[in-house]
Amino acid sequence: MRILVTGGCGFIGSDFIHMLLTDMPDVDICNLDSLTYAGNPANLEGVEGRFAGRYTFARADIADLSAVERILAEQRIEAVVNFAAETHVDRSIADAAPFLHTNVLGLHALLTAAQRRGLASFVHVSTDEVYGSLTPEAPAFTEADPLVPNSPYSASKASGDLLCRAWHETYAFPVIVTRCSNNYGPRQFPEKLIPFMYFRACEDQPLPVYGTGKNVRDWIHVRDHCRGIWLALTRGRPGAVYNFGGAAERSNLTVVHRILDFCGKPASLIRFVADRPGHDFRYAMDYSLARRELGFAPSRTFEQGLAETLDWYRGNPAWISNVTSGAYRTFLKTWYGDRL
Ligand code: NAD
Ligand code: DAU
Repeated sequence: MRILVTGGCGFIGSDFIHMLLTDMPDVDICNLDSLTYAGNPANLEGVEGRFAGRYTFARADIADLSAVERILAEQRIEAVVNFAAETHVDRSIADAAPFLHTNVLGLHALLTAAQRRGLASFVHVSTDEVYGSLTPEAPAFTEADPLVPNSPYSASKASGDLLCRAWHETYAFPVIVTRCSNNYGPRQFPEKLIPFMYFRACEDQPLPVYGTGKNVRDWIHVRDHCRGIWLALTRGRPGAVYNFGGAAERSNLTVVHRILDFCGKPASLIRFVADRPGHDFRYAMDYSLARRELGFAPSRTFEQGLAETLDWYRGNPAWISNVTSGAYRTFLKTWYGDRL
Protein backbone atom coordinates (compact mmCIF):
# COMPACT_ATOMS: atom_id res chain seq x y z
CA MET A 1 0.00 0.00 0.00
CA ARG A 2 1.28 3.49 -0.86
CA ILE A 3 0.23 5.95 1.86
CA LEU A 4 0.38 9.73 1.95
CA VAL A 5 1.10 10.75 5.55
CA THR A 6 0.62 14.48 6.10
CA GLY A 7 2.33 16.21 9.01
CA GLY A 8 4.82 13.35 9.26
CA CYS A 9 7.58 15.57 10.68
CA GLY A 10 5.50 16.30 13.76
CA PHE A 11 5.22 14.32 16.99
CA ILE A 12 2.54 11.72 16.18
CA GLY A 13 3.02 11.61 12.39
CA SER A 14 6.72 10.78 12.79
CA ASP A 15 5.93 7.98 15.25
CA PHE A 16 3.38 6.60 12.77
CA ILE A 17 6.01 6.62 10.01
CA HIS A 18 8.60 4.90 12.21
CA MET A 19 6.02 2.26 13.13
CA LEU A 20 4.92 1.54 9.56
CA LEU A 21 8.40 1.43 8.04
CA THR A 22 9.59 -0.90 10.79
CA ASP A 23 6.58 -3.18 11.20
CA MET A 24 4.76 -3.16 7.83
CA PRO A 25 7.11 -4.18 5.00
CA ASP A 26 4.37 -3.84 2.36
CA VAL A 27 3.79 -0.15 3.08
CA ASP A 28 5.53 2.72 1.22
CA ILE A 29 5.18 6.27 2.49
CA CYS A 30 5.21 9.76 1.09
CA ASN A 31 5.43 12.32 3.89
CA LEU A 32 3.90 15.68 2.97
CA ASP A 33 4.79 18.40 5.46
CA SER A 34 5.14 22.17 5.20
CA LEU A 35 7.65 22.24 8.10
CA THR A 36 6.07 24.76 10.43
CA TYR A 37 7.77 25.46 13.78
CA ALA A 38 6.46 22.04 14.93
CA GLY A 39 7.72 20.12 11.90
CA ASN A 40 11.15 18.73 12.69
CA PRO A 41 13.05 16.70 10.05
CA ALA A 42 15.25 15.35 12.88
CA ASN A 43 12.19 13.35 14.01
CA LEU A 44 12.80 11.12 10.97
CA GLU A 45 16.58 11.21 10.94
CA GLY A 46 18.12 8.27 9.08
CA VAL A 47 14.79 6.97 7.77
CA GLU A 48 15.52 7.76 4.10
CA GLY A 49 18.74 5.71 4.21
CA ARG A 50 17.44 2.80 6.26
CA PHE A 51 14.26 2.38 4.23
CA ALA A 52 15.56 3.36 0.80
CA GLY A 53 12.87 3.20 -1.87
CA ARG A 54 10.04 3.07 0.69
CA TYR A 55 10.08 6.64 1.98
CA THR A 56 9.89 10.01 0.20
CA PHE A 57 9.44 13.52 1.53
CA ALA A 58 7.50 16.35 -0.15
CA ARG A 59 7.55 19.82 1.35
CA ALA A 60 4.11 21.31 0.69
CA ASP A 61 1.13 22.93 2.37
CA ILE A 62 -1.97 20.71 2.57
CA ALA A 63 -4.01 23.80 1.66
CA ASP A 64 -2.24 23.98 -1.73
CA LEU A 65 -4.71 21.98 -3.82
CA SER A 66 -2.62 21.76 -6.97
CA ALA A 67 0.47 20.61 -5.03
CA VAL A 68 -1.57 17.94 -3.24
CA GLU A 69 -3.15 16.76 -6.53
CA ARG A 70 0.28 16.53 -8.16
CA ILE A 71 1.76 14.55 -5.24
CA LEU A 72 -1.17 12.12 -5.11
CA ALA A 73 -0.72 11.41 -8.83
CA GLU A 74 3.10 11.32 -9.00
CA GLN A 75 3.39 9.11 -5.92
CA ARG A 76 0.52 6.82 -6.99
CA ILE A 77 -1.04 7.22 -3.54
CA GLU A 78 -3.71 4.72 -2.45
CA ALA A 79 -4.53 5.99 1.06
CA VAL A 80 -4.18 9.22 3.08
CA VAL A 81 -3.64 9.64 6.82
CA ASN A 82 -3.94 13.30 7.79
CA PHE A 83 -1.93 14.38 10.83
CA ALA A 84 -1.08 17.87 9.49
CA ALA A 85 -2.49 20.50 11.82
CA GLU A 86 -1.83 23.42 14.07
CA THR A 87 -2.08 21.69 17.44
CA HIS A 88 -1.28 23.91 20.41
CA VAL A 89 -4.30 25.31 22.25
CA ASP A 90 -2.38 28.25 23.76
CA ARG A 91 -1.15 29.37 20.34
CA SER A 92 -4.73 29.22 19.01
CA ILE A 93 -5.79 31.61 21.78
CA ALA A 94 -3.04 34.04 20.76
CA ASP A 95 -3.83 33.78 17.00
CA ALA A 96 -6.47 31.51 15.45
CA ALA A 97 -5.68 32.30 11.79
CA PRO A 98 -3.11 29.51 11.13
CA PHE A 99 -5.51 27.04 12.76
CA LEU A 100 -8.30 27.92 10.36
CA HIS A 101 -5.88 27.83 7.42
CA THR A 102 -4.57 24.32 8.05
CA ASN A 103 -7.21 22.56 10.13
CA VAL A 104 -10.16 23.74 8.01
CA LEU A 105 -9.00 25.03 4.60
CA GLY A 106 -6.10 22.58 4.43
CA LEU A 107 -8.33 19.63 5.24
CA HIS A 108 -10.81 20.88 2.62
CA ALA A 109 -8.09 20.85 -0.06
CA LEU A 110 -6.93 17.39 1.00
CA LEU A 111 -10.46 15.95 0.93
CA THR A 112 -11.12 17.56 -2.46
CA ALA A 113 -7.94 16.17 -4.01
CA ALA A 114 -8.45 12.69 -2.52
CA GLN A 115 -12.09 12.51 -3.58
CA ARG A 116 -11.33 13.68 -7.13
CA ARG A 117 -8.74 10.92 -7.35
CA GLY A 118 -11.23 8.35 -6.07
CA LEU A 119 -9.07 7.17 -3.15
CA ALA A 120 -10.56 4.26 -1.23
CA SER A 121 -9.05 5.05 2.20
CA PHE A 122 -8.69 8.31 4.11
CA VAL A 123 -8.19 8.64 7.85
CA HIS A 124 -8.46 12.07 9.44
CA VAL A 125 -6.78 12.31 12.85
CA SER A 126 -8.87 14.38 15.26
CA THR A 127 -9.09 14.97 18.98
CA ASP A 128 -11.24 14.48 22.08
CA GLU A 129 -11.26 18.26 22.48
CA VAL A 130 -14.08 18.54 19.91
CA TYR A 131 -16.46 17.19 22.60
CA GLY A 132 -15.76 20.06 25.01
CA SER A 133 -15.33 19.61 28.74
CA LEU A 134 -16.54 17.03 31.30
CA THR A 135 -17.46 17.56 34.95
CA PRO A 136 -15.72 15.25 37.46
CA GLU A 137 -18.66 12.80 37.65
CA ALA A 138 -19.72 12.76 33.98
CA PRO A 139 -19.35 9.57 31.92
CA ALA A 140 -16.54 9.50 29.35
CA PHE A 141 -17.16 10.92 25.85
CA THR A 142 -18.70 8.59 23.26
CA GLU A 143 -18.79 9.10 19.50
CA ALA A 144 -22.50 9.96 19.80
CA ASP A 145 -21.81 13.01 21.97
CA PRO A 146 -22.35 16.45 20.43
CA LEU A 147 -19.42 18.59 19.29
CA VAL A 148 -19.00 21.42 21.82
CA PRO A 149 -15.55 22.90 21.18
CA ASN A 150 -14.34 25.63 23.54
CA SER A 151 -11.00 26.84 22.15
CA PRO A 152 -10.13 28.18 18.70
CA TYR A 153 -8.03 25.01 18.24
CA SER A 154 -10.87 22.65 19.09
CA ALA A 155 -13.35 24.71 17.02
CA SER A 156 -11.05 24.31 14.00
CA LYS A 157 -10.74 20.55 14.62
CA ALA A 158 -14.52 20.18 15.06
CA SER A 159 -14.99 22.06 11.77
CA GLY A 160 -12.64 19.57 10.12
CA ASP A 161 -14.62 16.64 11.55
CA LEU A 162 -17.81 18.15 10.13
CA LEU A 163 -16.19 18.52 6.69
CA CYS A 164 -15.32 14.81 6.83
CA ARG A 165 -18.89 13.97 7.71
CA ALA A 166 -20.15 16.07 4.80
CA TRP A 167 -17.72 14.43 2.36
CA HIS A 168 -19.01 11.03 3.41
CA GLU A 169 -22.71 11.96 3.31
CA THR A 170 -22.58 14.07 0.14
CA TYR A 171 -20.00 12.32 -2.02
CA ALA A 172 -19.96 8.86 -0.39
CA PHE A 173 -16.26 9.52 0.20
CA PRO A 174 -14.93 6.75 2.49
CA VAL A 175 -13.38 8.97 5.16
CA ILE A 176 -12.87 7.76 8.75
CA VAL A 177 -12.35 10.16 11.68
CA THR A 178 -10.37 9.16 14.77
CA ARG A 179 -10.55 11.17 18.02
CA CYS A 180 -7.90 10.67 20.65
CA SER A 181 -7.00 11.97 24.08
CA ASN A 182 -3.66 13.54 25.15
CA ASN A 183 -0.62 11.81 23.65
CA TYR A 184 2.80 11.58 25.25
CA GLY A 185 6.01 9.93 24.11
CA PRO A 186 9.31 10.69 22.36
CA ARG A 187 9.72 13.70 20.02
CA GLN A 188 6.84 15.83 21.33
CA PHE A 189 7.45 19.54 20.88
CA PRO A 190 8.20 21.02 24.32
CA GLU A 191 5.28 23.44 24.36
CA LYS A 192 3.01 20.54 25.45
CA LEU A 193 2.69 19.78 29.18
CA ILE A 194 4.99 16.77 29.65
CA PRO A 195 8.10 17.73 27.64
CA PHE A 196 7.64 21.39 28.66
CA MET A 197 7.62 20.63 32.38
CA TYR A 198 10.54 18.19 31.99
CA PHE A 199 12.57 20.76 30.09
CA ARG A 200 11.78 23.51 32.64
CA ALA A 201 12.57 21.26 35.61
CA CYS A 202 15.94 20.33 34.09
CA GLU A 203 16.78 24.03 33.89
CA ASP A 204 15.54 24.68 37.47
CA GLN A 205 12.98 27.10 36.02
CA PRO A 206 9.51 27.68 37.54
CA LEU A 207 6.80 25.29 36.26
CA PRO A 208 3.67 27.29 35.36
CA VAL A 209 0.60 25.25 36.34
CA TYR A 210 -2.63 26.84 35.08
CA GLY A 211 -5.31 27.59 37.70
CA THR A 212 -5.45 25.02 40.50
CA GLY A 213 -3.78 22.19 38.55
CA LYS A 214 -6.87 20.05 39.18
CA ASN A 215 -7.83 19.84 35.49
CA VAL A 216 -7.82 16.25 34.27
CA ARG A 217 -6.49 14.80 31.02
CA ASP A 218 -6.57 11.20 29.79
CA TRP A 219 -3.05 10.19 28.69
CA ILE A 220 -2.20 7.71 25.95
CA HIS A 221 1.23 6.67 24.70
CA VAL A 222 1.78 7.88 21.13
CA ARG A 223 2.51 4.34 19.88
CA ASP A 224 -0.85 3.09 21.18
CA HIS A 225 -2.52 5.94 19.32
CA CYS A 226 -0.61 5.07 16.14
CA ARG A 227 -1.65 1.43 16.40
CA GLY A 228 -5.25 2.59 16.68
CA ILE A 229 -4.92 4.73 13.55
CA TRP A 230 -3.47 1.78 11.63
CA LEU A 231 -6.40 -0.39 12.76
CA ALA A 232 -8.85 2.31 11.66
CA LEU A 233 -7.15 2.51 8.25
CA THR A 234 -7.12 -1.24 7.66
CA ARG A 235 -10.27 -2.41 9.48
CA GLY A 236 -12.43 0.69 9.95
CA ARG A 237 -15.91 1.31 8.54
CA PRO A 238 -16.04 4.14 5.96
CA GLY A 239 -17.88 7.11 7.46
CA ALA A 240 -17.24 5.96 11.05
CA VAL A 241 -15.82 7.96 13.94
CA TYR A 242 -13.62 6.10 16.47
CA ASN A 243 -12.57 7.29 19.93
CA PHE A 244 -9.16 6.25 21.29
CA GLY A 245 -8.03 6.73 24.88
CA GLY A 246 -5.41 5.55 27.33
CA ALA A 247 -7.62 4.73 30.35
CA ALA A 248 -5.29 6.98 32.35
CA GLU A 249 -7.02 10.04 33.76
CA ARG A 250 -4.62 12.14 35.81
CA SER A 251 -4.77 15.68 37.18
CA ASN A 252 -2.16 18.06 35.78
CA LEU A 253 -0.68 18.45 39.24
CA THR A 254 -0.21 14.66 39.54
CA VAL A 255 1.62 14.60 36.20
CA VAL A 256 3.86 17.52 37.17
CA HIS A 257 4.76 15.89 40.51
CA ARG A 258 5.74 12.67 38.72
CA ILE A 259 8.03 14.63 36.40
CA LEU A 260 9.63 16.41 39.36
CA ASP A 261 10.17 13.05 41.10
CA PHE A 262 11.81 11.64 37.97
CA CYS A 263 14.13 14.65 37.74
CA GLY A 264 14.84 14.71 41.47
CA LYS A 265 13.69 18.34 41.66
CA PRO A 266 11.71 20.04 44.47
CA ALA A 267 7.96 20.81 44.39
CA SER A 268 8.89 24.42 45.15
CA LEU A 269 9.50 24.83 41.39
CA ILE A 270 5.72 24.70 40.85
CA ARG A 271 4.14 28.10 40.25
CA PHE A 272 0.35 28.39 40.06
CA VAL A 273 -0.41 30.97 37.36
CA ALA A 274 -3.47 32.61 35.80
CA ASP A 275 -5.61 30.01 34.08
CA ARG A 276 -5.81 29.38 30.33
CA PRO A 277 -8.95 31.18 29.04
CA GLY A 278 -11.75 28.70 28.28
CA HIS A 279 -9.71 25.90 29.92
CA ASP A 280 -11.56 22.56 29.58
CA PHE A 281 -11.78 20.88 32.97
CA ARG A 282 -11.68 17.18 32.12
CA TYR A 283 -11.39 14.81 29.16
CA ALA A 284 -12.11 11.07 29.28
CA MET A 285 -12.71 8.68 26.39
CA ASP A 286 -15.07 5.75 26.01
CA TYR A 287 -13.31 3.70 23.32
CA SER A 288 -15.55 0.63 23.47
CA LEU A 289 -16.54 1.08 19.80
CA ALA A 290 -12.87 0.94 18.71
CA ARG A 291 -12.32 -2.05 20.99
CA ARG A 292 -15.32 -3.88 19.48
CA GLU A 293 -14.88 -3.01 15.80
CA LEU A 294 -11.09 -2.63 15.51
CA GLY A 295 -9.69 -4.67 18.40
CA PHE A 296 -8.08 -1.51 19.85
CA ALA A 297 -6.77 -1.37 23.43
CA PRO A 298 -3.95 0.71 24.94
CA SER A 299 -0.96 -1.44 25.88
CA ARG A 300 0.98 0.65 28.43
CA THR A 301 0.15 2.01 31.83
CA PHE A 302 0.73 5.75 32.16
CA GLU A 303 3.43 5.29 34.81
CA GLN A 304 5.36 2.82 32.61
CA GLY A 305 4.98 4.94 29.46
CA LEU A 306 5.89 8.18 31.26
CA ALA A 307 9.11 6.70 32.68
CA GLU A 308 10.10 5.43 29.18
CA THR A 309 9.29 8.84 27.70
CA LEU A 310 11.30 10.82 30.23
CA ASP A 311 14.19 8.38 29.74
CA TRP A 312 14.02 9.17 26.02
CA TYR A 313 14.22 12.95 26.65
CA ARG A 314 17.07 12.42 29.10
CA GLY A 315 18.92 10.35 26.50
CA ASN A 316 18.40 12.90 23.70
CA PRO A 317 19.63 16.28 25.01
CA ALA A 318 20.68 17.36 21.49
CA TRP A 319 17.10 16.91 20.25
CA ILE A 320 15.84 19.10 23.12
CA SER A 321 18.41 21.83 22.63
CA ASN A 322 17.70 21.98 18.87
CA VAL A 323 13.99 22.60 19.38
CA THR A 324 14.30 24.99 22.33
CA SER A 325 16.34 27.70 20.66
CA GLY A 326 15.43 31.17 19.22
CA ALA A 327 11.79 31.20 18.14
CA TYR A 328 10.75 28.83 20.91
CA ARG A 329 12.15 31.13 23.64
CA THR A 330 10.35 34.05 22.01
CA PHE A 331 7.07 32.12 22.09
CA LEU A 332 7.54 31.41 25.81
CA LYS A 333 8.17 35.09 26.54
CA THR A 334 5.16 36.20 24.49
CA TRP A 335 2.71 33.62 25.81
CA TYR A 336 3.70 33.36 29.49
CA GLY A 337 4.97 36.95 29.89
CA ASP A 338 5.46 37.77 33.54
CA ARG A 339 3.69 34.56 34.63
CA LEU A 340 7.13 32.89 34.42
P1 NAD B 1 2.54 18.54 15.85
O1 NAD B 1 2.20 19.95 16.12
O2 NAD B 1 3.65 17.88 16.58
O3 NAD B 1 2.87 18.36 14.27
C1 NAD B 1 2.07 18.91 13.25
C2 NAD B 1 2.78 18.66 11.92
O4 NAD B 1 1.93 19.17 10.86
C3 NAD B 1 4.13 19.39 11.80
O5 NAD B 1 5.09 18.52 11.23
C4 NAD B 1 3.81 20.56 10.87
O6 NAD B 1 4.94 20.99 10.12
C5 NAD B 1 2.73 19.95 9.99
N1 NAD B 1 1.86 20.97 9.37
C6 NAD B 1 1.22 21.99 10.00
N2 NAD B 1 0.52 22.72 9.10
C7 NAD B 1 0.71 22.13 7.90
C8 NAD B 1 0.23 22.41 6.60
N3 NAD B 1 -0.58 23.46 6.33
N4 NAD B 1 0.61 21.61 5.58
C9 NAD B 1 1.45 20.55 5.81
N5 NAD B 1 1.94 20.24 7.02
C10 NAD B 1 1.57 21.02 8.06
O7 NAD B 1 1.17 17.73 16.00
P2 NAD B 1 0.87 16.33 16.71
O8 NAD B 1 0.81 16.53 18.16
O9 NAD B 1 1.75 15.31 16.13
O10 NAD B 1 -0.64 16.09 16.21
C11 NAD B 1 -0.91 15.43 14.99
C12 NAD B 1 -2.42 15.33 14.80
O11 NAD B 1 -3.00 14.61 15.88
C13 NAD B 1 -3.12 16.68 14.76
O12 NAD B 1 -4.13 16.64 13.79
C14 NAD B 1 -3.73 16.83 16.16
O13 NAD B 1 -4.89 17.62 16.12
C15 NAD B 1 -4.05 15.38 16.46
N6 NAD B 1 -4.07 15.03 17.91
C16 NAD B 1 -3.00 15.35 18.70
C17 NAD B 1 -3.02 14.95 20.04
C18 NAD B 1 -1.86 15.27 20.96
O14 NAD B 1 -1.96 15.02 22.15
N7 NAD B 1 -0.74 15.78 20.48
C19 NAD B 1 -4.13 14.26 20.55
C20 NAD B 1 -5.19 13.97 19.70
C21 NAD B 1 -5.15 14.35 18.38
O1 DAU C 1 -6.71 16.11 24.24
C1 DAU C 1 -6.01 16.07 23.03
C2 DAU C 1 -5.27 17.36 22.84
O2 DAU C 1 -4.20 17.36 23.79
C3 DAU C 1 -4.73 17.56 21.44
O3 DAU C 1 -5.80 17.64 20.53
C4 DAU C 1 -3.89 18.85 21.37
O4 DAU C 1 -3.31 18.97 20.08
C5 DAU C 1 -2.80 18.76 22.41
O5 DAU C 1 -2.07 19.97 22.42
C6 DAU C 1 -3.39 18.50 23.79
O6 DAU C 1 -4.13 19.64 24.25
P1 DAU C 1 -4.06 20.14 25.78
O7 DAU C 1 -4.44 21.56 25.84
O8 DAU C 1 -4.76 19.20 26.68
O9 DAU C 1 -2.47 19.94 26.02
P2 DAU C 1 -1.37 20.84 26.76
O10 DAU C 1 -0.14 20.00 26.79
O11 DAU C 1 -1.26 22.20 26.18
O12 DAU C 1 -1.95 20.97 28.21
C7 DAU C 1 -2.26 19.83 29.01
C8 DAU C 1 -2.86 20.33 30.31
O13 DAU C 1 -1.81 21.01 31.05
C9 DAU C 1 -3.96 21.35 30.14
O14 DAU C 1 -4.96 21.15 31.16
C10 DAU C 1 -3.28 22.69 30.35
C11 DAU C 1 -2.19 22.36 31.35
N1 DAU C 1 -0.98 23.20 31.22
C12 DAU C 1 -0.34 23.24 30.01
C13 DAU C 1 0.77 24.02 29.84
C14 DAU C 1 1.48 24.09 28.49
C15 DAU C 1 -0.49 23.91 32.31
O15 DAU C 1 -1.05 23.84 33.43
N2 DAU C 1 0.62 24.70 32.15
C16 DAU C 1 1.26 24.80 30.94
O16 DAU C 1 2.27 25.55 30.85
